This record gives sequence, C-alpha cells and structure tokens, in this order.
Amino acid sequence: MKTIIEPFRIKSVEPIRMTTVEQREGILREAGFNTFLIRARDVIIDLLTDSGTGAMSAEQWAGVMRGDESYAGADSFFRFRDVMRSVTGMENILPTHQGRASERILFELIGGKGLVVPNNAHFDTTRANIEHSGAEAVNLPIPEAKDPSSRHPFKGNMDVAGLEELISRVGRDRIPAVMCTVTNNSGGGQPVSLANLRAIRKVCDAHRIPFFLDACRFAENAWFVKQREPGQQHRTVREIVRDMFDLVDGSTISAKKDGMVNIGGVLLIRDKSLFTRACNLLILTEGYVTYGGLAGRDLEAMAQGFQEVLEEDYLHYRIRSTEYLGEKLLASGIHIVEPPGGHAIYIDAKHFAPHIPQEQFPGQAVVCGLYRVGGIRACEIGSVMFGGPGRPAPAMELVRLAIPRRVYTQSHIDYVAEAAAELFAKRKHLRGLRITEAPEVLRHFTVRFAEI
Ligand code: F0G
Repeated sequence: MKTIIEPFRIKSVEPIRMTTVEQREGILREAGFNTFLIRARDVIIDLLTDSGTGAMSAEQWAGVMRGDESYAGADSFFRFRDVMRSVTGMENILPTHQGRASERILFELIGGKGLVVPNNAHFDTTRANIEHSGAEAVNLPIPEAKDPSSRHPFKGNMDVAGLEELISRVGRDRIPAVMCTVTNNSGGGQPVSLANLRAIRKVCDAHRIPFFLDACRFAENAWFVKQREPGQQHRTVREIVRDMFDLVDGSTISAKKDGMVNIGGVLLIRDKSLFTRACNLLILTEGYVTYGGLAGRDLEAMAQGFQEVLEEDYLHYRIRSTEYLGEKLLASGIHIVEPPGGHAIYIDAKHFAPHIPQEQFPGQAVVCGLYRVGGIRACEIGSVMFGGPGRPAPAMELVRLAIPRRVYTQSHIDYVAEAAAELFAKRKHLRGLRITEAPEVLRHFTVRFAEI
C-alpha cells in the first residue's frame, strides 16, 4: 500500500478553534507580528515545536493513574530506570524535568572557563549552558550541512577531521567532552550515521576524551540509520539504538521529544564518580534522585513512551509523514532543507521571499504569512533568532515547521501544504519587518515588529 496511515486510532480529541483571515490579521498585529506572543487558542495548526506537544497513548495515561508519588524509592522510578537501562544499556540513570536541566547539571560539573565543547551543532540551550559555565561551544558540522539542497543521507554527521584539528589546536586538556546531537536539530533534523559516531569514538579514545550524546531524537535517528546506512536494514531499531548508546560515556535527553511525554528529561553518566556528583547537584536544585523534579506519574509516562517510540510502525509513519509534507512543498516550488529531516521541515525563506533583504527578516515575513493564510504557527530560525547588535547575519534564513508526535492527521498536513502553496503563489505581497521593541537576550521570544 502506498498510503501510510497513522498507526493509531483516536480515543480522545481536542477541538481546534477555527478563525478567519480577518480575525488572524487583528491577532497578528496585536502580537507585534511575533507568533510566540499569540495565544495557542488562536492557532489552527501549531507547528512551533515538536517538544512536549505530542499526544500520549492510552497506556501512558494508564501509567499516569498508576504513578507512585512516594518521595523516595517510588515504584515508578524503578520502572523508569529499568526501561532506560534496557533501551540504553547504561547503568546510571537520573530523571530530570527536561533536557536543559540535564545539560545544566552536566556542564556545571565538567564545564568551566577556558574549556571547549565541540558538537555537530549545539542546540541553543546546550550552547547557553556551556557558555554559562564559562566554556566555549563549537559547532563542527560536515560541509554538506551548509548546503540546503545537498541530499547527503547523513547530513547531521560531525566533521571528524575538524574535530581532530580542534583537539590538536586547543589541546585535549581543554576539552572536557565531545558531544553529538542525534538527530541534529539545529542542522535541519538530519541524522548522524553509526559510522560517524564510531569515528568520533575513535578520536575520543585516542585522546582520552569522554563522548556524550544529546539524544533527544535518538529513535528517529536510529530509523534513518536502518533506512540509509549500508548493512543496517535487517537490524531492529532497538539494536541500532543500543549501538548508539554503547559508543558513548553518557547522554543528555529531553524526553519531550522521543520520550513521547509532555514534560521530562534524563541524564545518563557511565562514570561512577561523576554520576555521584551529578546526583548531589540534582538534589540541590531539582529534587531527590528518584524523581528529579518530576511527579511519579511523569516517570510512568516516560517509561512507557521510551518503549513505544521504538515501535517500527510508529517510526515508519512518523518519518514518512514529515517527508510527505516536504514532498508537497517541493512540488509547489518551495525550497526546503533537503532531504526532509525527522521532526520538521525547514523552508528556505531567502528563496521564498527574495525581494525581502536579510535585515528585514524574510523568515519572519513567511512565518506571518503562514499564520495569516492558514492560522499555522511556525518558527523563524534566522536573523530574528540569531541576529542582533554586533552579531553576524546567519548563513540561512529558515522557517521551521515542527511536527508534534501523534497529534495531526494527514488531512491536517495536506492543509498546511495547501496554505504554504497559496502563500508561495502570492509571495510577492509578503512584506519585510522592522523591530520596534527587543530584549537583549533570546530576543525571538518577546521581540515586537512593525511591517514595512
Ligand atoms: N537538545 C536538543 C537537540 C533540543 O532540540 C532541545 C529542545 C533540547 C536539547 C532542550 O530540551 O527543551 O527539554 O530543555 N528543543 C526544543 C525545540 C525546545 O523546539 O527544538 P528541553
């Protein structure tokens, strides 16, 4: 069969409030043309992020009811720990409230002034936590990652020669860990191959540097490996996931992505003494080691989610439905980062609105257009997010359509594709923006604009 159906039935529904183009015009103006400032109830299809926005399964909700809310030693913790041990093969497991809490603990322990932490590409919170510790965060993507039209099958790979060069330039003593993000969110949701992870491991071994994964989307990455990496087709996703974790010394995970929950995170550390120090830091700000800032019911939902995400029918549908949106946009003439990634499609806004100069935020103009035409909320990843006084203009102006897990059906995705095509046909009417109010840091969340 060519049609790939959602491998679930819907038992509980949430209404979507429909709005008219005129209503959305008023809402957009009131929000200063920043879709972060729009109320969620005024959005028809919300593609702002795939983080914490997924739908939980009946089994996860059943787990929520079973949650053991004891302060210490709750059954829910042991169920969560056993699942994480069986999925990752790692012994030492800490729950945290979300990915950035794991990052904060890790880099408070291993970061510090004068140190350098390389990654294929750091996510914003990872970079911010590294920089907060006084260390420098360095991105080492392969050259193909900078070309939106390159169809490299593992565009998330790290530039291993670049890693060697960095180590010889700054010295191994200044590198407390090498990280790799799977899939690479900042680089378009692109996967990393097992071969690349092995090559990074080899370099880390040669220089005795620990290797950590940012494993938010580990299952989506493993699915791409199964589809694309020679020799992996007959292996299970579970086996591939295990190979990925076997190669590293630890991992930070936001469970709001492939953990299939609305809140939660994990910190995995093989080294016993580093793990003990992480436990002590966790207790200081997050909570006791058997709940890590979460409720027992959240641990149950994670324990179930981390197993469901490995179901191959689910992953087939998940990756195919993202690709389906990508194909429809390409067929309308819209340029995207190719090939489509796992959790999102990234529109090339410089191509979409070539008449809008970079300093007038072409990505944000497309974001506003998508909201006007279809009530669709997307996220600019370009000059609004990365620019600002004293910062160079980013190489790409992108608009991310991130797809929540198990939330929208194929007809919702068809609607998104239709709205984007309609906007593309009228693209010459898109207008640039100028900033009227902006905070000093992380300006994309609260900045306000006026149309030019
Ligand atoms: N690492 C990656 C690769 C991420 O994509 C995120 C979050 C985090 C770490 C931080 O996790 O939000 O649980 O603290 N990404 C979301 C996004 C916010 O929209 O891409 P968190």
